Amino acid sequence: MANLAVDFLGMKMKNPTVLASGIMDFSASSMKYAVDSGAGAVVTKSISLEERKGHKSPIIITEKAFVMNAVGLSNPGVDAAVEDIKDLKKKVDAPVIASIFGKVKKEYGEMARRISEARPDMIEVNISCPNVEDEFGKPFSLECESAADVTRIVKENTKIPISVKLSPNVPSIGKIAKAVEDAGADAITAINTVGPGMAIDIESGKPILKNKAGGVSGPAIRPLAVKAVYDIYESVSIPIMGVGGITTGNDAIEMIMAGASAVQIGSAVYYRGIDVFSKVCDEAREFMDKQGYSKIKDMAGIAHE
Ligand SMILES: Cc1cc2nc3c(=O)[nH]c(=O)nc-3n(C[C@H](O)[C@H](O)[C@H](O)COP(=O)(O)O)c2cc1C
Repeated sequence: MANLAVDFLGMKMKNPTVLASGIMDFSASSMKYAVDSGAGAVVTKSISLEERKGHKSPIIITEKAFVMNAVGLSNPGVDAAVEDIKDLKKKVDAPVIASIFGKVKKEYGEMARRISEARPDMIEVNISCPNVEDEFGKPFSLECESAADVTRIVKENTKIPISVKLSPNVPSIGKIAKAVEDAGADAITAINTVGPGMAIDIESGKPILKNKAGGVSGPAIRPLAVKAVYDIYESVSIPIMGVGGITTGNDAIEMIMAGASAVQIGSAVYYRGIDVFSKVCDEAREFMDKQGYSKIKDMAGIAHE
């Protein structure tokens, strides 16, 4: 039977599926639930220095082809997050990845230093949230220079490996990835949500989300995510966590063939339940057995050959 285990920057994962940032609430019990349901690793919600309440409801829409959210980066703040991550690390036998963000570049350094106290296995640097522009301005992931600046600041403040999470909303994600690699990133996570987009309730004639606009995720963005990962793989030599629209085992395999060493799953938790991790693994294993692939590495990046 195919072996799904992967080593991502020294993190030993029993399979390549990872809970994406922001999908479950922050508690250690929610994250543990994802691991118990088959996830090979988990990413926390993005954490800021201070507690944030986020946007007002409604904050999420789930349609057949897409999910749209304007959660607004609600989180308990770094002090509480450090305790939660320490607690989680005691409870789960899987890598824990802490997602951080800052209002200004300098804040990323402080966040990196503070979150490192909890000894997460990796830090994911979220520079790509599209639904807080009113508050923070354009995400740092939109320009090579600002993306590289944040990467450098984070690296100066932690010894823990970092993965920088990129936005698809750019003309050349490969160029941004290269700038981030040159600035010292250990890995890249791609992609964050697309847009922002908007959905209108035709009864009231008004936008459904209270924030009006939100980041788009789920099945509709999968081809964009696959192309982004493909382009990044062409531009850098650091490993990639592929994310965007992965719902089935075949979707995960496709992302790995595009160049991902591991895959994150977010919106599909809403479509298939928390068991989506074990379902995706079972489906991927079945495909691999049928096709004669014995390990994930055998398929990594083969779309480029
Ligand atoms: C409700 C919701 C909340 C999210 N919150 C975060 C977040 O806090 N930080 C982050 O980096 N990404 C966040 N994301 C983006 C996901 O981690 C992921 O990059 C994106 O949804 C694409 O993957 P998917 O199609 O599998 O959902 C969020 C997505 C959703 C649907």
